[in-house]
Amino acid sequence: MSSDRITVTRASRGLHGTITVPGDKSISHRVAILGALGKGSMQVQNYLCSEDCINTLKAMQQLGARITPGNTPQNFTLTGTGMQPCAPQHDIDCGNSGTGMRLMAGVLASLPFRSRMFGDESLSSRPMKRIIDPLASMGARITACGKKPGCAPLEIEGCKLAPVHYELPMASAQVKSAVLLAGMLATGTTSVHQPAITRDHTERLFEHFGIPCTVSENGLDVAVEGPAIPTNKDITVPGDISSAAFWLVAASIVPGSEITLLNVGLNPTRDAIITVLRRMGADIRINNRTECGEPYGDITVCAPQKLVGTEILKPEIPNLIDEIPVLAVAAAFAEGTTSIRNAAELRVKESDRIATVVGNLRTMGSAVEEFADGMEITGGTPLHGATMDCYGDHRIAMSFLMAGLQAEGETTLLNCHSINTSYPGFEEHLHLLTSC
Ligand code: S3P
Repeated sequence: MSSDRITVTRASRGLHGTITVPGDKSISHRVAILGALGKGSMQVQNYLCSEDCINTLKAMQQLGARITPGNTPQNFTLTGTGMQPCAPQHDIDCGNSGTGMRLMAGVLASLPFRSRMFGDESLSSRPMKRIIDPLASMGARITACGKKPGCAPLEIEGCKLAPVHYELPMASAQVKSAVLLAGMLATGTTSVHQPAITRDHTERLFEHFGIPCTVSENGLDVAVEGPAIPTNKDITVPGDISSAAFWLVAASIVPGSEITLLNVGLNPTRDAIITVLRRMGADIRINNRTECGEPYGDITVCAPQKLVGTEILKPEIPNLIDEIPVLAVAAAFAEGTTSIRNAAELRVKESDRIATVVGNLRTMGSAVEEFADGMEITGGTPLHGATMDCYGDHRIAMSFLMAGLQAEGETTLLNCHSINTSYPGFEEHLHLLTSC
């Protein structure tokens, strides 16, 4: 469990050591959902035991999935319902997780019972119309009953849905996946067109579980043939590159660092953080690259002589959307200007990540200009420690703790409990890498 307040000082000897970051959050949610609907039992290894993914697993248990514990909390046997789920007895708590709520909405809207999903304050103010609209066009009956229009709690009157072709108005893997999961349960071909390539874990898992799915050559069009029942098959979840990203940046900004991160997912729809950091001058090497449904490998990072600013290209944005807060921290330590535009989606994440990143960077003394769709950071000015809020946002907490490792004086992040939503064990890793 993360403490509520975490304080760091400059890591004057650099970061050193080898760690294994926890399992991938996006893949863990999808494994729980598909496995719960699937036929038969499977061993799940390295599931992310964070609050978000545990909430999704509990929701799936309410639908009738059975969990038999293994040797560690991350390893267990999941027995699916063979597409015979039962109605949940209680309202489903999605906690802080937009992914959990949006993906489960695609499934629950297609099942023959009523259900209700709710979340915490942050999730209750995030837009749900983006999944309600396409699912409604398939015949779904979903009511957003939150205080804010179009927001959770969601009340769902499940029914048989019709297939659809949907043009995504925004590059969102969550929306794409909600429609594809509903399409898996509908009769016929459901297809989506995305304006840019987004993470493809749903498509890869469809293949793993034997669900007929096709992807166009340019990767923008995806179709699923329903109805189809997943065939459960053992799976190992790779480490989360979004969690690894904090250490990639820390080791690149703190002189004298050399660290290795083991078994990190290297899916090409998620690896732009590596491309962009290398473009900025980072020394990142990948060893033991291998593939098992998802590519993964070991990453070694050494502090470079210097980092330089860069322009993040429009098609790169969906590929590193969750890494932008920590990339902005790297930019603050880089020579020159880094431009991050076309990223208005950041305003509807766990916090308004444009406002929270710009605010905290300025508090630490960095020169940042804010735009409606991003920010421009002029790096090179030494940062000073400060006490800052993370606004209930796990990635803001961890990003600014990384900044604190190369700032003058003490840096304290308040309300860090949210780190448990994605990175259990973060404080232990922080201690391990900074204490050698
Ligand atoms: C996710 C997709 C992204 C990402 C989120 C996880 C997923 O959200 O920010 O953390 O697992 O599909 P959007 O699809 O809304 O951009």
